[in-house]
Amino acid sequence: MANSTTIALNVQTSQHELVIERSTEGSPLRGRLQIPGDKSISHRALMLGALAEGETIIRGLLLGEDPRSTASCFRAMGADISDLNTEEVRVRGIGLGQLIEPMEVLNAGNSGTTLRLMLGILASHPDRFFTVTGDESLRSRPMSRVVKPLQHMGADIWGRQQNSLAPLAIQGRALTPIHYQSPIASAQVKSCILLAGLMVDGQTTVTEPAISRDHSERMLRAFGAQVSVDPDAKSVTVTGGTTLRGQTVVVPGDISSAAFWLVAGAIVPGSDLTIVNVGVNPTRTGVLEALEAMGADITLENPRDVAGEPVADLRVRHSHLKACRIGGDLIPRLIDEIPVLAVAAAFAAGTTVIEDAAELRVKESDRIAVMATQLNLMGAKVTERADGLEITGGYPLVGTDVDSYTDHRIAMSLAIAALNASGKTTIHRAEAAAISYPDFTTTLQQVIA
Ligand code: S3P
Repeated sequence: MANSTTIALNVQTSQHELVIERSTEGSPLRGRLQIPGDKSISHRALMLGALAEGETIIRGLLLGEDPRSTASCFRAMGADISDLNTEEVRVRGIGLGQLIEPMEVLNAGNSGTTLRLMLGILASHPDRFFTVTGDESLRSRPMSRVVKPLQHMGADIWGRQQNSLAPLAIQGRALTPIHYQSPIASAQVKSCILLAGLMVDGQTTVTEPAISRDHSERMLRAFGAQVSVDPDAKSVTVTGGTTLRGQTVVVPGDISSAAFWLVAGAIVPGSDLTIVNVGVNPTRTGVLEALEAMGADITLENPRDVAGEPVADLRVRHSHLKACRIGGDLIPRLIDEIPVLAVAAAFAAGTTVIEDAAELRVKESDRIAVMATQLNLMGAKVTERADGLEITGGYPLVGTDVDSYTDHRIAMSLAIAALNASGKTTIHRAEAAAISYPDFTTTLQQVIA
């Protein structure tokens, strides 16, 4: 277990490295933090804004590289999206079914959400041809999970390895409705099919094995689509053909970004952090439940509703953590927070088991393998399971050279581990954090000041 002496931290960044050095004297983490806008909501606001009639105003959009990829794809298809670096982003939509056939390959960069959601939109645009690709990581991630149901709806999609890997080519068609029983709980799969269903005559339904994030359902309704949800059956239905109307979207802070500070505050002795304006949609709050089960001291303050999404401030104070079991229906509600929960587990008494999380192997990196190897390099005791991790806490972490494998959440999770590791940790390829959290290092410097 890390000792309880207060710490001094020195953070240095170069273009590709983040160096965090702990000495034995100094101060705990304190402060009131703003976090960037929610990535999932930012993508959806840009996409629905592009498909709507009239103007959409987006406040608090995430300025990370992933939403920038979404904006550039939809600009290439005719949506007029204002400069993203302003407080209010304006999207002048071109109307459902009106996307222009792009002259260039659409590039989703590192963003699975951009590519998978966009595929549903493109496949349902008759008489237009599209080609889509992404970076090296995205070109190795499975697309058959969306290509197959779209093909059942009548879509024509081609790609490498039986049409399962980008680059992909799509011939848009008039699709037919389906009731799709998804084998995985994935908001990307669900949203792809619902977006395709917007352009289809009749009802398109997706049923999931467990409930995934519901931002698409909420925002589609707000834009005027006909969406019904049956929570007991874990199914969502969209009725096609309704015009979408531009809206004002206020994007709350991303709980997936807040999670880094929640874990930092929980593990660094003496810490007291408040993270303001965090989206606490119940389909996303699994991380709070897991940390509470570990004995973390987290309070939810000032709960409110902002433009159809629940929001609160979260206060975290240091406490002694204990191991817990994370699995089952909780997994889709904290899937992106598992790397940093693994860091919390490394400081928790006992063995934490994370199971039913095989999906982690096909994220921006194989997050099971990468977290196990990188935390073990720091002296933690982590074993891989096919579907998760087993982490025995209490082994002191020692700074060393680690690598993000170009995965934003790995880079930031290792930085949080470094806060409680002795000596110097160098995180290579740490610039990956900019995918979802461009100001991560600035906030890190703020909390240790
Ligand atoms: C997302 C859904 C999740 C998540 C990803 C964003 C979304 O993926 O991991 O970061 O915005 O719909 P899956 O739904 O594929 O699990």
